[in-house]
Amino acid sequence: MKLRRWIAAGAVAVATAAVLTSPATAGRPYDPTDQSLRNLALRHGLAVGTAVDLAALNDPADPRYRELAASEFSTVTAENAMKWESLEPTRGTYNWGPADELVTFARQHDQRVRGHVLVWHNQLPGWLTSGVADGSISTAELRDILRRHITNVVTHFKGRIWQWDVVNEAVSDPWDTPSTLHYKGFWAEHLGPGYIADAFRWARAADPHALLFYNDYNIEAFGSRDPANDKTQFVYDMAKQLRAQGVPIDGIGSQGHLGTQYGNFDTFQVVEALRKFAGLGLATAFTEVDVRSQLTEGVQAGDEAEINPRLQAAAANFDVLLQACLAERHCLSFTVWGFTDKHSWVPGWFTDPPEGMATIYDENYQPKRAYQALKADLIYSGPPYVLPRIPQRPRR
Ligand code: XIL
Repeated sequence: MKLRRWIAAGAVAVATAAVLTSPATAGRPYDPTDQSLRNLALRHGLAVGTAVDLAALNDPADPRYRELAASEFSTVTAENAMKWESLEPTRGTYNWGPADELVTFARQHDQRVRGHVLVWHNQLPGWLTSGVADGSISTAELRDILRRHITNVVTHFKGRIWQWDVVNEAVSDPWDTPSTLHYKGFWAEHLGPGYIADAFRWARAADPHALLFYNDYNIEAFGSRDPANDKTQFVYDMAKQLRAQGVPIDGIGSQGHLGTQYGNFDTFQVVEALRKFAGLGLATAFTEVDVRSQLTEGVQAGDEAEINPRLQAAAANFDVLLQACLAERHCLSFTVWGFTDKHSWVPGWFTDPPEGMATIYDENYQPKRAYQALKADLIYSGPPYVLPRIPQRPRR
């Protein structure tokens, strides 16, 4: 059975490669380097994704964005359009337009959708946070509002979402106060950590077929293994507990926001973390990968001695995460958080010191070393150590 599936996946890849040969390559022998990331990933059963900025997608002056979003990726995530402040800016009035547009775009291009995000402490609508702050929304009502939000949103997109980020960034970091890791943020403060299990149950009730993920950053690899300061261990323990309680969680999303100024990890460390989550019966995914760099004066002045090491280090880090994902058969998708430096959240978010250069294409849509590293990983991998994905069935 397994072998047959592998052969089938290989046949699909070859057939797709033949069909998708573009006019520019017609008549030439098959060259994998001509292929898109999404086509090369087919052989591994892996989805390659990007976050999509709806404004860029709809900008007629920027057609390349739309072309690459369609051609290089097999899954898309709304960078902001499915967040609560975007969907329900006024209490009781949903604005589905931009999110629906992305779902339509995905369908037109035979892409799957990662739903992002149902429960998060950021980008909440003002009416909600101010209502809680001034006491006009009670704790009981807040829980009810959350249940209805999850139910409404999941029901609206029912059948169209492959993976939902149900809960995002619920766990603190060692630099928070107190430094002992804990459940942080608006929802834990007002409802207690039980909101996490509730959220998964409400999401499952609204869509029995979507894969339900917990999503967080800085969980690429284990550290000390002490849940008091090792976030990966804390999240692992949380997931284990949720599974033991029969909570319908299907996967762990590792955001993968890295920076070249940090030590980061080697492939084996990342594989180990993915394996541990798989050991709990969970799928995994890289959900928001980017690798930012500090934009020193030298970088900004075009000094190649400063630019080159950053480009190389970024490529190496993209490569580590994708290799690890390929190596672990429950790692279902690899999504980048924007694909071009022309549209990346990094320069707007990390300003002191200024950071950027975080994506796989430069501002002019030229593929960077990081893009070629991803492509090479997809081409030069296969049995016995890289095998097709094992599909995950949604848990009841
Ligand atoms: C970011 C978006 O990219 C920005 O456009 C927005 O201003 C802030 O949020 N973790 C997440 C994402 O889960 O939703 C965040 O996206 C990046 C960090």
